[in-house]
Amino acid sequence: MSTLHLIDHPMIQHKLTLMRKVETSSKDFRELLEEIAMFMAYEVTRDLPLEEVTITTPICETKKNMIAGKALVIVPILRAGLGMVSGLHRLVPAAKVGHIGLYRDPETHKPVEYYCKLPQGIENRELIVVDPMLATGGSASDAITLIKQRGGKNIKFMCLVAAPEGIKVLQEAHPDVDIFTAAIDECLNENAYIVPGLGDAGDRIFGTL
Ligand code: PRP
Ligand code: URA
Repeated sequence: MSTLHLIDHPMIQHKLTLMRKVETSSKDFRELLEEIAMFMAYEVTRDLPLEEVTITTPICETKKNMIAGKALVIVPILRAGLGMVSGLHRLVPAAKVGHIGLYRDPETHKPVEYYCKLPQGIENRELIVVDPMLATGGSASDAITLIKQRGGKNIKFMCLVAAPEGIKVLQEAHPDVDIFTAAIDECLNENAYIVPGLGDAGDRIFGTL
């Protein structure tokens, strides 16, 4: 079974509470999302492999560690996941970006795929799938299935707010994928929105309310 990592540092809780407030503007919402994504990226990348390299300081030659392997890949689930990419890029500027477009059908709440473009060589790269919301878990599960069908193996999922229902669905569908979240909320409502949640993340980021 995958591991569920709750990243609830006080600064993250504070910023997430600001994001939840209905009166928070789109501009502030986007900035807070970027900041939280950057903080969470420290934990999500904690186990990246290192390799020893020889460098020369002003004093002497020495062997020190640097990140090993090919550049990792950030995969935002469109639209809302886009709001997390810049925060991750601030920590990992060399990361490549793949895009998966999914929207939830308003009646069935099931994800509908409309776009998938991933970088070359994903089979040898670490992948971090990002989306602020894990509600029913359908979008995250389908996105990860698409990545696996194209050869991706080493995958993590990072969100801000997760519902218990979505965590269960994702862990059952992809037991090999660790989940990183800043909060585990109470439940879903009759429209499959997270309670208390923060509303529709895509609409709040892009001002399409
Ligand atoms: C939201 C959110 C997730 C999905 C989560 O996207 O950004 O992708 O819903 O819900 P789920 O876990 O029940 O699948 P939405 O479908 O509203 O599309 P948007 O980002 O384009 O607004
Ligand atoms: N998508 C969102 O943006 N918010 C929710 O609460 C559920 C799905």
